[in-house]
Amino acid sequence: KLQLSLAIIKPHAVKNPVALSYIRNVIKNKFVVVKTKRVTLDQETAGNFYIEHEEKFFFNRLVTFMSSGYIDLHVLGHRNAIQLWRTMLGPTKVFKAQFEDPYSLRGMFGLSDTRNVAHGSDSIASAEREIKFFFPDFSFYEWHTNT
Ligand code: CMP
Repeated sequence: KLQLSLAIIKPHAVKNPVALSYIRNVIKNKFVVVKTKRVTLDQETAGNFYIEHEEKFFFNRLVTFMSSGYIDLHVLGHRNAIQLWRTMLGPTKVFKAQFEDPYSLRGMFGLSDTRNVAHGSDSIASAEREIKFFFPDFSFYEWHTNT
């Protein structure tokens, strides 16, 4: 059965043709890409998406960055989509990614803890929220199942 995750390719990676073509290739090779769109976010929308981080010291930096250019959104399908995409990303912190998992996407293309290449849903509940956030008409339960 297909589990879903939301992947967001962040602005610096969308702007970097080497990173973007590599990322698209690994996505295509591992997942069913259920939906894709390229958007820009205003600061308010980016802030709402990352609302759980509202109190963090990096919140303003994150929101400014995420609304600074095009981002690519992908709804990824795989038996184990959430964990697989996060494993492919590597650690959130780029310093750690470069040392502990240098061939992860963040290890290869990460520039800083904010410009860390891509986002991945961290649970089934957050995947559902995040997919609905960007694809409000998407019929989550037609696709998703826990079993
Ligand atoms: P993401 O998976 O998009 O979810 C939250 C984001 O906050 C994270 O990736 C990073 O881009 C950002 N973030 C997390 N920790 C830090 C940090 N210590 N400094 C700056 N940005 C961070």
